[in-house]
Amino acid sequence: MNNQEQWSSKIGFILAAAGSAIGLGAIWKFPYMAGTNGGGVFFLLFILFTILIGTPILLAEFYLGRRTQKDAVSAFKVLAPNTAWPLVGILGVICAFIILSFYSVVGGWILSYIYRNATGQLFADSAISYEDLFGQIIASPAEVLLAQGVFMIITILVVRGGIQNGIEKASTYMMPALFILFMVLVVRSLTLDGAMEGVEFLLKPDWSLLTAKTSLLALGQAFFTLSIGVSIMITYASYLGKEVNLPSSALSVAGMNIFISLLAGLVIFPAVFALGFEPNAGAGLVFVVLPAVFNEIAFGSVFFFVFLLLLLFATLTSAFSILEIVVAALTKGDSDKRKRYTWIAGILIFITGIPSALSFGVFSHIQVFGKSIFDFADFITNSIGMPLGALFISLFVGFRMKKSDVYQEISQGSSIASKLFNIWYFLVKYLAPAAIILIFLQSFGLFE
Ligand code: PFF
Repeated sequence: MNNQEQWSSKIGFILAAAGSAIGLGAIWKFPYMAGTNGGGVFFLLFILFTILIGTPILLAEFYLGRRTQKDAVSAFKVLAPNTAWPLVGILGVICAFIILSFYSVVGGWILSYIYRNATGQLFADSAISYEDLFGQIIASPAEVLLAQGVFMIITILVVRGGIQNGIEKASTYMMPALFILFMVLVVRSLTLDGAMEGVEFLLKPDWSLLTAKTSLLALGQAFFTLSIGVSIMITYASYLGKEVNLPSSALSVAGMNIFISLLAGLVIFPAVFALGFEPNAGAGLVFVVLPAVFNEIAFGSVFFFVFLLLLLFATLTSAFSILEIVVAALTKGDSDKRKRYTWIAGILIFITGIPSALSFGVFSHIQVFGKSIFDFADFITNSIGMPLGALFISLFVGFRMKKSDVYQEISQGSSIASKLFNIWYFLVKYLAPAAIILIFLQSFGLFE
């Protein structure tokens, strides 16, 4: 390995890792999942699982990356040579490849909405049906492929720039912009007449809505939004110096992720309730209900534009991390190869994503195991690949690594008390694997 790159600062690393975590999961998926699964109860469970299960696994990934200073696959090779463990890294890279192939499709939808909003088409006609419009956009082969292609080119151009000049620089502009833009929207939403009903929906749990299914969906949400199980966080932490405090970094990333989910909820639900819409529109909440909501507000097109822009930033910073892990596994830390491999990987991912992009239009008749191509790609990664990766990572750190080695690495750069360390170790070794096995059972319909 030569020319191993590094983040320039701890804050640069935290913003990039938070940028990976915060994405469609927090801003698109969280509100619609909360909207259809009990609101406050879902939110509370999501916080609980993020703290008890997600963050411990995040720290376990940070440990593996910083300890080895290697990409996802090589990290396992170093720590467990001549075993099958590197397969966990390979699984992560394959999952990342597939995730970006459909994640970029949604990135493209956001670009289409931004274009239509900027050209005045989105709010031109007050009688417009946003449901029809959304259906038309996602079914148009030329539009979805063009938009997905543009989204991938932006991602390639940033990742091609490398760690410090590409991902870190972009994240240090985009993440603060995201927080500020969100604040503007939260104030707008909370000052609408009747906003409190939406706040209550999000923050006041109705315990009668607590079910096993809701709990497990909240657990899956915690995993997806933290980008764990795909070895992304191993790769990101491999670019870290030994002086960085890993536990506090993991807590910062998890905290920001919860905070942005809260802000997304505080933008969407007060507006939805205040204007008499329903919170349970499902996946169309952001693309179908939100424009209708903003259509009723003065300067709504400006506010919706701001919302789309921050959704785009968040989606891009996640996309950078997904492409980065593929590139890192191919270049094995040799930055001379970065430019070429970024283009190759990015183009291959775009091509792989074409069937997903077309699966709402010309390929809508094609079903794989009863699902559309897009849903199938989502299912095998989110419901199988990611939990499986997270399970193996927690088992690897809990059972394969020596506890003293783990303690030594994690306490470098931090003064973690041995009591706290022991609690974390227990969560990774026992609670996380048990919880993941429950997610699996749920994905196979045991709790339907
Ligand atoms: N954490 C990202 C989000 O919430 O949108 C999604 C994600 C990124 C999932 C990277 C998995 C991954 F490997």
